[in-house]
Order: sequence, then C-alpha cells, then structure tokens
Amino acid sequence: MSILITNIKQLLQVHKHNVTIVKGEAMKTLPILENAYLYIEHDTIIEYGKMSDCKDIEAETTIDATGKLVLPSWCDSHTHIVYAGDRTSEFVDRINGLTYAEIANNGGGILNSAKLLQETSEEDLYKQSIKRLDELIKMGTGAVEIKTGYGLTVEAELKMLNVIKRIKQDSLAIIIPTLLAAHAIPKEYRSKKSDYIKLITEELIPKAAELNITHYIDVFCEEGYFDISDTETILKAGLAHNLRPKIHVNQFNSLGGVALGVKHNALSVDHLEELNEADIKALKNSDTIPVALPGCSYFLSIPYTPARQLIDAGLPLAIATDYNPGSAPSGNMNFIVSAACVKLKLTPEEAINAATINGAYAMGISNMYGSITRGKKANLIITKPLNHYSEIPYAFAHNPVDQIIINGQLL
Ligand code: NIG
Ligand code: FE
Repeated sequence: MSILITNIKQLLQVHKHNVTIVKGEAMKTLPILENAYLYIEHDTIIEYGKMSDCKDIEAETTIDATGKLVLPSWCDSHTHIVYAGDRTSEFVDRINGLTYAEIANNGGGILNSAKLLQETSEEDLYKQSIKRLDELIKMGTGAVEIKTGYGLTVEAELKMLNVIKRIKQDSLAIIIPTLLAAHAIPKEYRSKKSDYIKLITEELIPKAAELNITHYIDVFCEEGYFDISDTETILKAGLAHNLRPKIHVNQFNSLGGVALGVKHNALSVDHLEELNEADIKALKNSDTIPVALPGCSYFLSIPYTPARQLIDAGLPLAIATDYNPGSAPSGNMNFIVSAACVKLKLTPEEAINAATINGAYAMGISNMYGSITRGKKANLIITKPLNHYSEIPYAFAHNPVDQIIINGQLL
C-alpha cells in the first residue's frame, strides 16, 4: 500500500534527523516545508520534499492537498477515557458553587465514577470507551495514553486493563496503557489507607505486571489522596515490576511530587497547576517531561500550569487533554493547542511541538511518532484549507481536521 500527498501548502514538523524531544528555546521553532509532497509506503514515511522534486513517484492512492496543511497527528499523553457514565450532576453542583474538593469529600468525584464502573460490564465499558476514542481520532489524535483508576478494586482495575487491551487490539490508534490504581482511597479503606496501598503493591501491581499490558505506573499525589511517602511506596513497587512512573502531581498543592518523580526517573510529571522554584529546579537535567493539562484548568476554573516558566527555564513541555468525566470531559486536542496559546501563553510553534513530538516523548514513543521524518510511522493530519498553521490555535473550537492517516491507513 502506498499513498502520495501532493501540493501540500505547509508540511509541518519536518525533521531530517530523528528528534525525540524539543526543549526550551528550541520549542519556538517549528520546521516547515512549503509547497511540498509526502510519500508513504505501508505504515512508514518514505520520502518528502518540495513539489518541484516530486517526479516519477507512483502511488496506489494520490491525495491532492492543495491549500491544506499536513502535520503529525496529535499525541495525547494523558487521558482517562475508559470510564462509565458521566458526572453531569457534579458539573451542575459546581456551577451552583460547590468546589471539586467539596464534591469529592461528600463521596462524589472519582469514587462516584468508581462505583459506576464497578457496576458496568466489561462489554458495556468497552463500548462506551471505544466510542470516545473514535471521536478523538476524528479530531486528529493518533496516539493516546489511557489510564486505569476508576476501578479501585483488584477486579475492577483488571477489568479496566482488559478493556484498554481490547481497545488497543481493535483500534488503529497507538494506545499506551498506564496503571493508576492509586487514584483515590476507596470508601471502605478511608480509615485504613495503608491496607489499600498494600493491596496495590502486593496484589494488583504483580497481577497487572503479569498481564504485560502496561509499562507505566501512576499515582494521584495530592492532599487527601496519596502523600509523598505513599507515592514513593507505590512507585517503588511499580519499578520492581518494570513499570516506569508517569504521575499526577501539583494539581492543587506542591507536595514535592515533582522531585520524587525525577528521583525515580518518571517519564512525565503531569498537571503542575501549582509550581514552585524547587519543582522547576528538580526538572532541570532530568529525563522527565512536564505535562500541562489546560482542559482541566478550564473546566475546574483552577490556575493554569505556568508553562512559560517551564519553557523559559530551558525545559521541554507536552500538553494533553486529561480527558476524564470529572475534571476534563473533552478529548479535543485542537482545543488544547488553542488553550495552550491563549492561556499558557505558548506561541503556535511551541503549542504544536508540545502536542506532537513532546506528547510522543511523554508516552515513550517519540522515536517512531511525532515528527515528519523518513522512517517514522505515518500518523498524519491533513487539514481543511488553511492559510497558515497559526490558524489551528487561532480559530479556537473549530475543527481544522479534514482527513487522517494512522499507521499509513487513510481513515
Ligand atoms: O487528572 N486528578 C486526578 N485525576 C483526574 C480527575 C479525575 C476525576 O475527577 O474523575 C485528573 O484531573
Ligand atoms: Fe489525569
């Protein structure tokens, strides 16, 4: 199978040499090729260049992209799309003045979603979740991380992992599963949190590792959830089974989770709405990428991650949707790219870098995804006619996506 895309107005994120991450000042550069072609064989980018050099290439399918842009599909490195039902009633409660924390303390929040998920059959959960995935693929996402964390029992967490495994088998999109059993303390463990942590470290992690579905471990390190010492215990148990940390830190409070993540070589530290100098210092000279989730800040009306401080300190940044029923019920990466510009004060170049190559890095797949490079996988967005890539974040809440190619297949 081969595809030739011709007359591309702007081909974005073009790298001759394979890049796997862009940091600091370099994020301001988005390499582009104007009036270009791109040639794909099977699932791989074979060749690209100026239209004037596009000679003697014959392909089974030719797409004329006159007036359109082509870029790597979005890499959404932080989602919770496997969940049951919704939390619209809590949404209304928040409009009427309750806070996210008050709702959680009254037994709502994550525990509400966990109860619903426990009562939902695996088949039903699969159907609800793959529908969400199909919607976000249509909006240009080609690779997605998916967390467990709404099970909160061994049985229900394994049910979630199985659903993620089935989604991975059935969808063309690249799926990266993460074990987030430490997402909240179940009601029955309220007064004996250490027993729940034991259940995670001694039973769930070994069982999950045996299934070999996930290579990542996550913890919600936050006041009222898992403190620094709990988080370290869980990360160590995960690492003993080769699960690398990718953790929720600094959403409401800076507890030292960033430094802890770096200490244990976390692939990413996500949220970071509350950030101090020590957190930024800890990230320097590490392999850990900070991830901002502006959809969560928008939906909960909490501060936005001080992304400028991170990038201006020379650090890399990825942006992701955090798609989940409680704090960010949207998987639209186009909106996230726009919110990154409007609210995090990223330039369009920085935002597109954060949503492609750096998103891929935050899932451990940037050697094969996230840039237009010969030999990399052909995961692409072909936009509707646009004058310039800045229109993607500028026209917020528009859908710029016309066609998508995932692993060389035109959808
Ligand atoms: O990333 N902060 C923890 N987890 C999710 C929200 C979960 C929920 O409210 O259901 C997040 O925002
Ligand atoms: Fe999250």
